[in-house]
Amino acid sequence: MSQQMPVEVEKRPSFLLRHRSKVLMVVGGLVLIFVVMQLIPLDQTNPPVKAEPNWDSPQTRELAAVACFDCHSNETDWSPWYAKIAPAKFLVWRDVEEGRSELNFSEWSDGMSAEMSGEIAEVIQEGEMPPMQYTLMHSNAKLSDEEKQQLMDGFVRTFANGQSTTAVPNQEDDDGDNDEDED
Ligand code: HEC
Repeated sequence: MSQQMPVEVEKRPSFLLRHRSKVLMVVGGLVLIFVVMQLIPLDQTNPPVKAEPNWDSPQTRELAAVACFDCHSNETDWSPWYAKIAPAKFLVWRDVEEGRSELNFSEWSDGMSAEMSGEIAEVIQEGEMPPMQYTLMHSNAKLSDEEKQQLMDGFVRTFANGQSTTAVPNQEDDDGDNDEDED
């Protein structure tokens, strides 16, 4: 309420003007950093699919593919624009590296079912996975309560199946797609 201290509003533009060469240098520096950042190479490749869990149904696999595969399989979709532009692409890349090393549905082995089943149910139940930064950009990966339940039940049945290696592309067909028709 009291107006004892007049704010010196006029100072700001004159500061920018007086220091415009420094300002330009800073902006130029940022632009340069941005450009150089784009040149840093990243390995955005998909290794071959070796073995998938013995899915109980195509629906379970489909849900997992939509919600989990971009980070937990060798079938990552690298095409979104933010996966191509630094610094966002570093974050995407790190998610995929870390995600694959924790859990990779394309390099499945029987032992992983026992190891992973509890954790998978937990992260789905608690909404930790898929992570929020991902569902913000992929609204279709945001699981409803019903889909969460479906996916968790599907995993339970899948893990009970034992025997991994539904898809061993090099054995029957090496075109990289995953045939759903086996049982
Ligand atoms: C945007 C990438 C991304 C997606 C999509 C994603 N995850 Fe993850 N996930 C990660 C990363 C990164 C980690 C390792 C770091 C961490 O735990 O946060 C991880 C870790 C995990 C772990 C290990 C346990 C833990 O908390 O460390 C499990 C289990 C898991 N994810 C399951 C899933 C399932 C199931 C889905 C699909 C419903 C899914 N994730 C979707 C990135 C992802």
